[in-house]
Amino acid sequence: MSSTDTKAAKLIRKCVIPAAGLGTRFLPATKAVPKEMLPIVDTPTLQYIVEEAVKAGMEDVVVINGRGKGSIEDHFDIAFELETTMRARGKTADADRMRAIANLVRIISVRQKEPLGLGHAVLCAKSVIGDEPFGVLLGDDMIDSEDPGIGQLARIYQQHQKAVIALMEVPESETHMYGIAAGKDLGNGVIQIDHVVEKPKKGTAPSNLAVIGRYVLPPSIFPILEKQTTGVGGEIQLTDGLATLQKTEGLLGYKFQGQRYDAGDKVGYLKANIAYALKRPDLRGGLLEYLREVVKTEKP
Ligand code: UTP
Repeated sequence: MSSTDTKAAKLIRKCVIPAAGLGTRFLPATKAVPKEMLPIVDTPTLQYIVEEAVKAGMEDVVVINGRGKGSIEDHFDIAFELETTMRARGKTADADRMRAIANLVRIISVRQKEPLGLGHAVLCAKSVIGDEPFGVLLGDDMIDSEDPGIGQLARIYQQHQKAVIALMEVPESETHMYGIAAGKDLGNGVIQIDHVVEKPKKGTAPSNLAVIGRYVLPPSIFPILEKQTTGVGGEIQLTDGLATLQKTEGLLGYKFQGQRYDAGDKVGYLKANIAYALKRPDLRGGLLEYLREVVKTEKP
């Protein structure tokens, strides 16, 4: 990454992390705990996502929250009693790690009173974002990459001065589970989108390029979302708002670099846990030994 690129990426200073969904696929765990607070190894999914935003130079992180708001706010706050107790027990490094989470970035909490859909969740951030382009990182979508996913998109936005969304190729059989975009390949992973549709019926997808949970959007998305009627699943869909934006101002897609995990899906969540645990020297050996044993003994 050149220094010019880094400077450009920094101009996107604010981002929104929607984390107010019901998380029904993870019930009963999500009855009292937000899905975004479920751990990948020992760290909440949301913390990885906030860290990605910070690494990309975001200064203000707007977390849209609903039920379980307390645990999200507490996690990114100073845990005074916990830290004091740990220091008294000589666990200084652990206490410092807890303080570092509180010092990560400025977190602004906005309540979405009803989970009316992702488009509505983004709209809840309107007054905090104001009149500038901003990033959106879905609170249950992880991108494991040295070069943070949202930073990659921010650079594309700066270069083209156009809204950009993360895209990933998926098997034909899975296109009905995603927002799907199609368009002209401009090279270097950039697509000029001419069509975007939320969860197309089987066999009707315009391509196999799925919309993944990272976006950099202009503030003009807000009036579009204000007028947006409900779409698939009776929810106000961000993808429908993006389809309008594509027609009025144009929309780019970017095939990002990195490994994506859908932590909002049970298999995706388990894969993320295994992948992140295998990166940990203290866990890798024991886990590999167990996985080899499972592969040997489990019947397909
Ligand atoms: P999902 O559709 O994956 O979340 O939304 P969900 O509705 O909680 O999931 P299930 O299907 O019931 O298990 C993607 C992201 O958008 C947020 C979610 O919290 C998640 O991080 N979201 C979704 C909101 O903040 N508000 C909404 O109204 C909907």
